[in-house]
Amino acid sequence: MFTSKTVGGLLAIAFGTLVHAAESPNLGTLASGAEVAAYDLTVMPDGTGLPVGSGSVAQGMRLYTEQCFACHGAEGEGALNDRLAGGHGSLATRAPVKTIGSFWPYATTLFDYIRRAMPYAEPGSLSNDEIYSLTAYLLYINGIVDDEAVMDARVLPEVVMPNRDNFVWAYKP
Ligand code: HEC
Repeated sequence: MFTSKTVGGLLAIAFGTLVHAAESPNLGTLASGAEVAAYDLTVMPDGTGLPVGSGSVAQGMRLYTEQCFACHGAEGEGALNDRLAGGHGSLATRAPVKTIGSFWPYATTLFDYIRRAMPYAEPGSLSNDEIYSLTAYLLYINGIVDDEAVMDARVLPEVVMPNRDNFVWAYKP
C-alpha cells in the first residue's frame, strides 16, 4: 500500500534532507496565517498591536446598553459583575475601589481586555470598530475623555490614565 511512510521514503530519496520535516514526529499541522492571527491579540501599553478601526463614545454607549449593561450597570457602577467606573482617589484609603479609571495604568489594555474576554458569554464576537467604541465609552464614563472622543490606534495610546505613575517596576523590562 502507498502509505504516507512510503511517500516519505520516496521523497527522502528524491530530496534528501528536505524530507526530514516529512519524517518528523507528526505533532500536528503548521498553523495558517489566519489561525495565528486569531490568537495574536496582545496590545502593548504603547499601542503596539492595535488594529485598524475606530469608534466613538456615542457608538460605544449604544453597544454598552445592549451588551454590557446587564452585568456591569448602566454607568459602569457594577451590577452582577465588576464595577467599571469610579473609585477615583480611593486607592490609598481603607476602602480602595479598583476600577479602570481609578486603577488601570494604560488605556490600551482596555482594548486588549475587551477583545479577548468580553462580552463574557461571547468573547471574540465584537468587531474592532465596536471594541474601539466601547473603549471610548468606558474612558468617558470614567471622566478620562470627553463625549466627543473617537478612539483609534493613534489616539488610544495617547490617553493618560490617572493612576499611571503610581506603579513601580518589580523588575526592569
Ligand atoms: C454575563 C455578564 C457579563 C457581560 C454581559 C459583560 N461582562 Fe465584562 N465582566 C464580566 C465578569 C464576570 C468580569 C470579571 C472577569 C474576571 O475577573 O475574570 C468582567 C470584567 C470586565 C472588565 C474588567 C474589569 C476590571 O477592572 O477588571 C471589563 C473592562 C469588562 N468586563 C467590559 C465589558 C464590556 C465592554 C462588555 C460588553 C461588550 C461586558 N464586559 C459584558 C461579566 C460580563
